[in-house]
Amino acid sequence: MKIIEVNNYKELSRIASDIIVEEINKKPTSVISFATGKTPKKTYINLVKAYKNKKVDFSKITSLDVDEFYPIKRGSIKSYYHYLFVNLLGKVNVNKKNIFLLDGSTKNPEKECTEYEKKIKENPIDLQILGIGENGHIGFNEPGSSRNSKTRVVGLTHIKGTGITLGIGTIMKAKKVILLASGKKKAKAIYGLVKGKITEEVPASFLREHKDFILIIDKKAGSLL
Ligand code: GLP
Repeated sequence: MKIIEVNNYKELSRIASDIIVEEINKKPTSVISFATGKTPKKTYINLVKAYKNKKVDFSKITSLDVDEFYPIKRGSIKSYYHYLFVNLLGKVNVNKKNIFLLDGSTKNPEKECTEYEKKIKENPIDLQILGIGENGHIGFNEPGSSRNSKTRVVGLTHIKGTGITLGIGTIMKAKKVILLASGKKKAKAIYGLVKGKITEEVPASFLREHKDFILIIDKKAGSLL
């Protein structure tokens, strides 16, 4: 695990977007799994800027996501599908044919999960981008998620309902993983990730066993370390 601690959210977003740009420039056909949530928003703004300034070309990448609510309409403004289009995919030159986002409107979620897992087997993830929940969850892998879990339907503890998420095992197979955390609210989860026991109770702690894992945090998120 490599930890990059920076002063604030702006710097964190700069480092994250620089890493992503570098990865795409190194391997234009990168398969990238994009996180949602507040944390990566500025990273995505930076990526759109980098694209407009011709610093990066998204035309050959394959885009995946990490999780999605279930059930949810495809176009719903609450969906992660919508989030990714509004914040990134709709603003850069990704090839629509290479966008594979989880379908929260499917009638058969189990089949959706099996097929997503298959898709990832055929297109192994080069770069996994993650945020973290206050209880240490990654994607929708809540405490209790096993180290070898796959893409599956899960119950959500922080809101009532269900979701679909890449499993911890699926995420661990990505070649490179970056996790972003900003603000005091994330400090406890970051402490658990970095210094706590590697345990299902803090799903993000499994990332310590990943060969190429970069944790990017600001001072507040790192304040308990
Ligand atoms: C949700 C999402 C996660 C995300 C997390 C943190 O639970 N399913 O993918 O990483 O929230 O979100 P935020 O960055 O808004 O704090």
